[in-house]
Amino acid sequence: MNVLVTGGAGYIGSHTCVELINAGHFPIVIDNLCNSNPKSLERVASITGKEVVFYEGDVRSEALLNTIFTKHSIDCVIHFAGLKAVGESVAKPLEYYENNLCSTLTLCRVMQQHGVKKLIFSSSATVYSGDNEMPLRETSKTGNCTNPYGWTKYMGEQILRDLTVADPQWSVVLLRYFNPVGAHESGLIGEHPNGIPNNLMPFISQTAIGKRHHLSVFGNDYPTHDGTGVRDYIHVVDLAKGHVAAISHLMQTTGESVFNLGTGTGYSVLDMVKAFETANGIPVPYEIAPRRPGDLATCYADPAKSKEVLGWEASKDQTDMCRDAWKWQSNNPNGYDN
Ligand code: NAD
Ligand code: UFG
Repeated sequence: MNVLVTGGAGYIGSHTCVELINAGHFPIVIDNLCNSNPKSLERVASITGKEVVFYEGDVRSEALLNTIFTKHSIDCVIHFAGLKAVGESVAKPLEYYENNLCSTLTLCRVMQQHGVKKLIFSSSATVYSGDNEMPLRETSKTGNCTNPYGWTKYMGEQILRDLTVADPQWSVVLLRYFNPVGAHESGLIGEHPNGIPNNLMPFISQTAIGKRHHLSVFGNDYPTHDGTGVRDYIHVVDLAKGHVAAISHLMQTTGESVFNLGTGTGYSVLDMVKAFETANGIPVPYEIAPRRPGDLATCYADPAKSKEVLGWEASKDQTDMCRDAWKWQSNNPNGYDN
C-alpha cells in the first residue's frame, strides 16, 4: 500500500518507515524538517535497501499536499507531523495550536478532496486526565490537559472524531503512545533532541556519553516503589510495528477507534538508570532534584485492546531499550550532524 507519512523524517516516523517497508508497504514522506534531518531517510534506505519518496515541505501547504495526492495513489495516511515539546508549548502556545491543528485540518481537507479517508493519528497518553486510576484504558477519562501541547492532541482527536461522525466513510485510528524510547537495533536511526533534552532517556544517554554532567531525578518522594516517577517506556521499534498493525485495522473498518500503544509495565526513573548502567556497563551519575511541575507520579497503559483487536503487543524489553538507545547515542554523538 502507498502510505503518506507526515513527519516521516522524525524520530517515530523514520522507524515507522522501516517497518512499513519491511511489511511490503511504500511510504511517501512529507516533512518540513523543523525538527529532523533528511539523513534519517537516507539511513532508512540503508537499513531496508529501498529509497523513500520524500517531499520537503509543510503539511499546512494545501498546494504541496495536492501535488502529492495527484502524483501518488495514496491508500492511507499516518499523521506524525507536529511539534511535541511540552515546555516550549507553554511558552509558544500559538505556534503549537497553529502547527498541530492547522496541519491536521489542511491534511483532512485535502484527503477528503482526493477521496482518501483513512488516517492514523499520533496521539499521546497526555490526553488522559491526571485523576484516572492506573492502568489507563482507552475508556479512561480524557481532558484536563496541563499544557498546550496536550490540548493540541486532545483537540486533534476531537476534530477527527467529528469527521467520522459527519462522514461515515472516514476511518480514523487514534494511537495513544506512552513513552517511546530506544532506537533501531542497527544504531543508524534514533532520536536527537535539539539542545538540552526534556525527556528521560535522551538525558540518560547524553549523561552517559559525557555531554551532561549528571541526570537530575525530578522528585524522589512520589508514592511509587522507590519514590521516583513511574512511566510505561516502549521501544520505538515496537511502537513503529504498532502502526503497521493499525493499518490493517484501518483499512477494514470505518469510524473512529482508539488504541493505547504501551507495554503495560511501569518503570521508575531509578529503574531506568540502573537498567541502562547494567545493559551498557556505563555509569549514569545522578542527583535528586525537586519535582518537575505538571508531572504525575505514575502513568502506564492497559494495552489489552491493542493485543485483542490489532493483534499487536510490545516484544522488546527494558534491556533492549537501553542497549539500543546507547548504540545510537555512542555511534552518533551529534545525531545526524556528523
Ligand atoms: P519528531 O519531532 O521527531 O517528529 C515530528 C516530525 O514532524 C519532525 O520531523 C518535524 O520536522 C515534522 N513536522 C512538524 N511540523 C510539521 C509540519 N507542519 N509540516 C511538516 N512536517 C512537520 O517527533 P516524534 O517523537 O517522532 O513524534 C511524532 C508524533 O508523535 C508527534 O505528533 C508527537 O506529538 C507524537 N508523540 C510523540 C511522543 C514522544 O514521546 N516522542 C509521545 C506521544 C506522541
Ligand atoms: N525525568 C527526570 N529527569 C529528567 C527527565 C525526566 O527525572 O531529566 C523523569 C520525569 O520526572 C518523569 C520521567 O522521568 O517521571 C519521564 O519523563 P519524560 O519527560 O521522559 O516523559 P513524560 O512522561 O513526562 O512525557 C512524555 C512526553 C510527552 C507525552 C508523554 C506520554 O514528553 O509528550 O510522555 O506519552 F505526552
